[in-house]
Amino acid sequence: GRMFLIKTIKLLLLMRKFLFYYFLSLLVLSSCHSEEDLMIENFESGSFENWTTEGEAFGQAPAQGSLAGEQEVVGFAGKYLANSFHNGDDSRGTLTSKPFRIERDFINFLIGGGTSSDTYIELLIGEQSIYKTHSPVESETLQLMSWDVKAYRNQQAVLRIADNQRGSWGHILIDAIEQSNQYKSNLMENYTLTYDISQKYLLLPIEDNAPETKVQLLVDGKQVGVPMDIRLAKTHIQYWLPIPVAHYQGKKVSLIFSQAKKGDIGISQIKTSDVFDYTYNETYRPSFHFSPEYGWMNDPNGMVYHNGEYHLFYQYNPFGARWGNMHWGHAISEDLVHWNHLPVAISPDGLGAIFSGSAVVDKDNTAGFGKNAIIAFYTSAGEQQAQSIAYSLDNGRTFTKYTHNPVIANPNIQDFRDPKVFWYAPEKKWIMSLATSQTITFYASKNLKQWEKLSEFGENIGAHTGVWECPDLFPLSYKGETKWILFVSINPGGPNGGNATQYFIGNFDGTTFTPDPLPYPLWIDYGRDNYAGVTWNNIPESDGRRIFLGWMNNWGYGNMVPTQNFRSAMTLPRELRLADNGEHLVVASFPVKEIGEEKDYKAIIMNKLSSDTFPISTDFYNNGYVISFTVKLDGLKGFRFALQNGKGEKIMYHFDTEEKTFIVDRSKSGLTDFSSNFAEPLIKAPLTPKDHYTIHLWVDKASTEAFINGGEVVQTNIVFPTEPYNQLWFDLRGNATVSVENITLYKIKN
Ligand code: FRU
Repeated sequence: GRMFLIKTIKLLLLMRKFLFYYFLSLLVLSSCHSEEDLMIENFESGSFENWTTEGEAFGQAPAQGSLAGEQEVVGFAGKYLANSFHNGDDSRGTLTSKPFRIERDFINFLIGGGTSSDTYIELLIGEQSIYKTHSPVESETLQLMSWDVKAYRNQQAVLRIADNQRGSWGHILIDAIEQSNQYKSNLMENYTLTYDISQKYLLLPIEDNAPETKVQLLVDGKQVGVPMDIRLAKTHIQYWLPIPVAHYQGKKVSLIFSQAKKGDIGISQIKTSDVFDYTYNETYRPSFHFSPEYGWMNDPNGMVYHNGEYHLFYQYNPFGARWGNMHWGHAISEDLVHWNHLPVAISPDGLGAIFSGSAVVDKDNTAGFGKNAIIAFYTSAGEQQAQSIAYSLDNGRTFTKYTHNPVIANPNIQDFRDPKVFWYAPEKKWIMSLATSQTITFYASKNLKQWEKLSEFGENIGAHTGVWECPDLFPLSYKGETKWILFVSINPGGPNGGNATQYFIGNFDGTTFTPDPLPYPLWIDYGRDNYAGVTWNNIPESDGRRIFLGWMNNWGYGNMVPTQNFRSAMTLPRELRLADNGEHLVVASFPVKEIGEEKDYKAIIMNKLSSDTFPISTDFYNNGYVISFTVKLDGLKGFRFALQNGKGEKIMYHFDTEEKTFIVDRSKSGLTDFSSNFAEPLIKAPLTPKDHYTIHLWVDKASTEAFINGGEVVQTNIVFPTEPYNQLWFDLRGNATVSVENITLYKIKN
């Protein structure tokens, strides 16, 4: 018995050793991936011998890098890859592999090209598509991606590489497809981060040049809104994006990133915070122009006066300082000078982003949403553009979208947007002006929900070298007579490159707009930075003004201007009037009286300029100012002046009565190289020769607005001086007879 026991113990001890080594070797074997990687295809044979080819896109054989007309292809392995750019983007075709057995846990491959769902690599088992993957970004640089195929071990599979896409980025690049027990890609799809919310903000690191990632917000597992495109930082944190989550206290907020890369700082550095500093103290934050607290802004929208408040909605990206994710931002003012920021008014939904539009006050409850409801009209910009409405019963503080949106479906016109609605009293109906590609279409409605097409305007008249956008139709009276004005913004095709707003003067009979014969195109502003402007609805009759405001930027460079946490400001609100410029009627515009009224801040008046410079202290620059003066020509052919600083940075103004032009030159105005479109051409406006001109210049941190003779000619141009302009300089050399009189300078704020 005892002997037996000893023997058993010895045996067990022996076995223990054996078992130990047995398990150890198993462990080592599996963790070292003793199964070697298996190359499925690296195209290094220089032929498609293992593939069936269809179509012409992949050519007869693998490519050696780029093909004719293609940007440099990089990041492939060895000498060859599959490249479907044969005959350019338009060619189509497929490569289908021979069947192979899945013998490892993962398939890794290199992929590049377009992001269309029609350019992909697909794994098929029998008839079933297991994975179908396109390049994560549009790029000629191949990236490593991986599929988890554990579940399909030992099954027969086939690979298909397809290019069924024509046009821009209609090609795919594939190389080094291997089987492996290692998931080698550092790209993750639908990566999710969840936070228990006890603070007010989630702060996301942003870099403007990083590609956009789709991010979906969830609260307690439920989707909130639609995915947003966010430029999460890749190489450095340029600024922070605040996502307000205060109202989700105690809940779980998740962010799902459609694509993420291991190690991306835009994801690993996300933090929660109770504070977000909206003040920034940015060099180019305007002191008296409206700008968003944070994020990107373009067109003014939904401008309406109601219950003592001017509402300004605007095209807004709250998720970054470049264009994207269009929402309606919102601000209100009682005096058109001081603005209060309010929360976002309308957010994207399943019908698309919220593009430009207008708002009315429904005094007679024609729509049935309630008496005096503010009703907003906007373009739902999904795959196609259509017109939608939303209403507010609380002075614009919250909006409810109409459940039967859109109210005007897309009739197969690509650019079909920017509804501007007003009440046409003579026929007790609402009129909508809508940009419809190269024309403006007018619609009518009794209830704001059903719209009927009235007429179309614009063929063979005005400027047409770009898309027509943001119309506005309204009356102005001239010497007791009512004229109708139609504003049409165009991009590109403005008089000085990029975008601008043209107008027509004529008659509107409730159905048709008929233009007067005038030398079209005519422009509301010849400067480069006044776009998509329209006028306020519902200004009280006792006031009687027609007040306009535009986006003070240009699509030619708007996304690149050297501000950081926000981009763009609006022009000053301007009163419109009809004026005779000496040759014909023009729509003149001039800042509303409220902006010049703060006379307390008036500082300097000089009857006549005696030397060639007039000093402007930093205090003026910092608070914004307006300077005005009258220049008498006394037979001279022109004159020049400039705003300038000690560094030689200046914006130059040149009046040439012989050439009949008023030219602005900002090529040396400060920072100009952020875009090649910014400084280049001389900015020209037509000028009627006169013996004297009155000039008003409103100057803010990053903008200049010049009004000649009360706004008969206007030039708005943004500038980015690296030091304040501290003098107004007049070119008096040889022009002894030019006299500059009545110089007035006053601060806008104190
Ligand atoms: C004009 C515009 C509009 C459009 C909006 C989108 O600047 O292109 O036509 O509604 O911007 O943000």
